[in-house]
Amino acid sequence: MSSLDAAAAQKKADASFDGVRGRFPSLRQLAYINSGSYGLLSDRVQAAIQEYVDLRLRAGADWDAWVERSFRLAAKLAKLINAGMDEIAITGSASSGINAVASALDFSGHRNRVLVSNYEFPTSGQIWHAQEPRGAIVEHVPEDEGGLIPVEHFERTIDERTAVVVISRVCYRHGGKFRDEAVRAIADLAHRHGAYVILDSFQSLGAEALDVGSLGVDVVVGGMYKYLLGTAGIGFLYARRDLAERLVPTMSGWFAQENVGAMDIFANDPSRSARRFQAGTPPVLGCYAADAGLDVIQDYGIETIEARVRDLTARALERFNEQGYRVATPPDSRGPMLAIKARDAAALVQALIDRSVVTSHRDGNVRAGFHFYNDESDLDRLIDGLDAHRGLLA
Ligand SMILES: Cc1ncc(COP(=O)(O)O)c(C=O)c1O
Repeated sequence: MSSLDAAAAQKKADASFDGVRGRFPSLRQLAYINSGSYGLLSDRVQAAIQEYVDLRLRAGADWDAWVERSFRLAAKLAKLINAGMDEIAITGSASSGINAVASALDFSGHRNRVLVSNYEFPTSGQIWHAQEPRGAIVEHVPEDEGGLIPVEHFERTIDERTAVVVISRVCYRHGGKFRDEAVRAIADLAHRHGAYVILDSFQSLGAEALDVGSLGVDVVVGGMYKYLLGTAGIGFLYARRDLAERLVPTMSGWFAQENVGAMDIFANDPSRSARRFQAGTPPVLGCYAADAGLDVIQDYGIETIEARVRDLTARALERFNEQGYRVATPPDSRGPMLAIKARDAAALVQALIDRSVVTSHRDGNVRAGFHFYNDESDLDRLIDGLDAHRGLLA
């Protein structure tokens, strides 16, 4: 492509986001580059929350409408990740999905190892360590000096005793990513040894696409309050069809039954679908917000959003390098978030907030989580802020 063609293509891509910033009122004041912590509230999600409040005030309760909304959300999520609706469970959090799967596994025999990558959010370590009294042995898979976890590190550890391999699409600490080839290779390796693979999509899905079929993982968990633009208090779980039929969670509840209306106190009859990984009443308000969040994603298209975010992080990386910042994110295996090493990350994040530039920090890094509603003006404000506090950078 000539540079003129590339410029025209870029202009066209940018035009698909015309007006997008107006849909996120917080951007009038804030340079908000913090979607890896919590996504911004859009006009549509705000209206959906109001719709729920109006219904409560008008009718008190409408269970049929609420259950219908949770099914509608499951259908949209299924479409987003190229799954079947029967492969989706609506949960209260990513953690509750992982717990439900863990509850279905038997660690009392020879196959009792759980491999947890060092990219994991603490919840994924903690839940598996909580299985130790049930016989689980947890092993952690380390990063190399560049912040990547090569497939060979899994190769070294996976064997016939491995029950589950737990990986995050993108690391919450520095934004390093398992690319498609790596996820596929880890899934192949695990399956050859008879182990399951659980993928945590929280730091990616919404800013990046995810196709469960092409990645070959068994379970995907995530939540709705970051790049999926919903709210806290709701998550989801994908379980491959044959797995949902085979694994029987020992955590259950009435919304996990084959017939939610069965009201049978004398038996547990788990749903034949992934809904068996649910428990009680779905998070109703969360369903309203999350469903509307997915509509916003759909308005622009997940592939278009991914391309925009990739451009933004490429541009940000270029500028961070020009400024001489020490970037912790592996440049070629990155998700929507970039991390910059700091001497005092907490103080730096606070100094940025004082200038209405919102980021967050973990593990000594300042994290800038980009979404499609960000633009170069946010990046300018971030760099101005970082330059004004150079002494706090590493
Ligand atoms: C990668 C990842 N997984 C899981 C979680 C937490 O999930 P939940 O609170 O829904 O259990 C987070 C929260 O930041 C996260 O970044």
